[in-house]
Amino acid sequence: MCGITGYTGPKQASRILVDGLKRLEYRGYDSAGIAVQTDPADQRANALTVIKRVGKIASLRQAVPKDLSGHCGIGHTRWATHGEVNEVNAHPHADGSNRIAIVHNGIIENYLSLKGMLEHEGMVFASQTDSEVIAHLVAYHYDGDLEAALKAALKHLKGTFGIGCVCSQEPGRIVGARNGSPLVVGVGDGEMFLASDVNAMLAHTKRVVYLNDGEVVSLWPHDFRISDGDDQSVDPKIDHVTWELDAIEKEGFGCYMEKEIFEQPDSIERALKGRMDSEYGLAKLGGLNLSKKELHAMQRVRVIAAGTSWHAGLVGCHLVESIARLPALAELASELRYRNPVVEPGTLYLSVSQSGETADTLYAMREVQRRGGTVLGICNVVGSTIARESDGGIYVHSGPEIAVASTKAFTSQLAAFYLLTLSLARMHDMSHHDGSLFLSQLKAIPGLVKRALEQRDLIQALAKKYCHCSDFLFLGRGLLYPIALEGALKLKEISYIHAEGYAAGEIKHGPIALVSPQTPSVFLVPNDHLREKTITNLKEIKARGGPVIAIASEKDLEVAAIADDFIPVPDCDSRFQPFTMIVPLQLFAYFCALELGRDVDQPRNLAKSVTVE
Ligand code: G6P
Repeated sequence: MCGITGYTGPKQASRILVDGLKRLEYRGYDSAGIAVQTDPADQRANALTVIKRVGKIASLRQAVPKDLSGHCGIGHTRWATHGEVNEVNAHPHADGSNRIAIVHNGIIENYLSLKGMLEHEGMVFASQTDSEVIAHLVAYHYDGDLEAALKAALKHLKGTFGIGCVCSQEPGRIVGARNGSPLVVGVGDGEMFLASDVNAMLAHTKRVVYLNDGEVVSLWPHDFRISDGDDQSVDPKIDHVTWELDAIEKEGFGCYMEKEIFEQPDSIERALKGRMDSEYGLAKLGGLNLSKKELHAMQRVRVIAAGTSWHAGLVGCHLVESIARLPALAELASELRYRNPVVEPGTLYLSVSQSGETADTLYAMREVQRRGGTVLGICNVVGSTIARESDGGIYVHSGPEIAVASTKAFTSQLAAFYLLTLSLARMHDMSHHDGSLFLSQLKAIPGLVKRALEQRDLIQALAKKYCHCSDFLFLGRGLLYPIALEGALKLKEISYIHAEGYAAGEIKHGPIALVSPQTPSVFLVPNDHLREKTITNLKEIKARGGPVIAIASEKDLEVAAIADDFIPVPDCDSRFQPFTMIVPLQLFAYFCALELGRDVDQPRNLAKSVTVE
């Protein structure tokens, strides 16, 4: 949700800023811009050159003159919140004299009153954004020291922000501030970077410092200085990023989503690696920060999450309850925060988030912590806010996920839930023998997912056949109900086809009215006690003339015979079917979107990391 870049050093800033923005494009992509401190020798008279364009980073790249000479600047890719998508509303925003330029990620809640106050002082606003007040406020307080001016401006701001700021009178200096929106400093050799996440700087440095809320940073090519809300200097903790640059390239795939879907055998393997103790039938989760006694004392589990991560949480809660026998519920973070939740002792909260930055999830988690709750994070992005603020957790290690629609992070989150379920179950009822069996089945998952991916051509053909239908139903029961929700979400997100995920047993209570020859139903048929019930639901749809695409075990010849179209998946213990069943649904959504000519990686109106409520 908006991406920020900053560079100061010996190289030409514009190229580094634009390349960095390209890496952050998944955070927002309606418009983009840069502000560069132009070298005195450059003909463009202003000491700050601001270039903005509507659309993706490619249009900004075209607009930046090849010979623009300047070694320090800031950049921004936008996901609009206040003010329509146009060039004026794009960032960076400058003050009236073009002395100060800022980029902002977040929302300034009191911007209208600040704007009124500044207009009263004679300042003229150009845009409809909340962010522009920051530029004018900094200019208002500027007296030769950009950091002091930004700090003075911050005192007036209510809301969330990650800010990057430059001043024409202080060559080579960038000042940044963070409150609620992520900001990372990249420490190079004679050059420094600022960005919303590490992807933007991975090509240049792997040494990073994650800023905390309330911190302000000044960057120069050879130095940086961080201070906290009380103006005390902070000793920076330099982390080393383990992600490789390759991991954020497409590596021969047409788009990131396709690459990430096909990467799942490896990413699930990574989530499990080193965490399976086959001898004792246990999971080894080193980051929980809970003693065995503390974990054993947990009487119930609550998941806090949004979007795809919530769907993983629904699967996880089903597992915890049915296998570890602890009551478990997954709640939408955006709902939990505002309903004055009761946080009971003995409750293990799990904050699940790929990015680790989703505002809804973060704020809900803080609310729970404020009430004394213990929150573990299940995150992908190392060093992200949720990962750092949680009391412990499990990194899912899927590697960078770039496509807006989440795929590999989802299956890695599932893997984390299976491991946690095993840990909890072995503390309660599960025997050593059953634990070992569970682990051996879990070990087989990457191989099964690999086989599920082999249905690629069949699924592409089905996508061709069905992609012009305007409505779909996705139906499943038990563990496969959240998978139906996730399948419907994937289709909606990237193909813009209306799809509803529903519990198969529930359709007769309303949604069956939607069934017609133009509305296909995708059925997830398990191979356990719910199989017969699901087949009955499937027949109810067939009897009303609705086309049925069924996904079931390759051995299920009966389902293959009843359905209009059949996608076989490798047979496995039904407890592990969420892994094999989600793969065809991801592929189906992907191929429908491709067939319809959609922008698969960057679907309209969405952003990957939603850092506003
Ligand atoms: C956004 C994305 C979804 C994602 C959700 C939660 O809405 O578009 O794909 O599932 O945020 O993201 P998180 O990073 O918390 O898992």
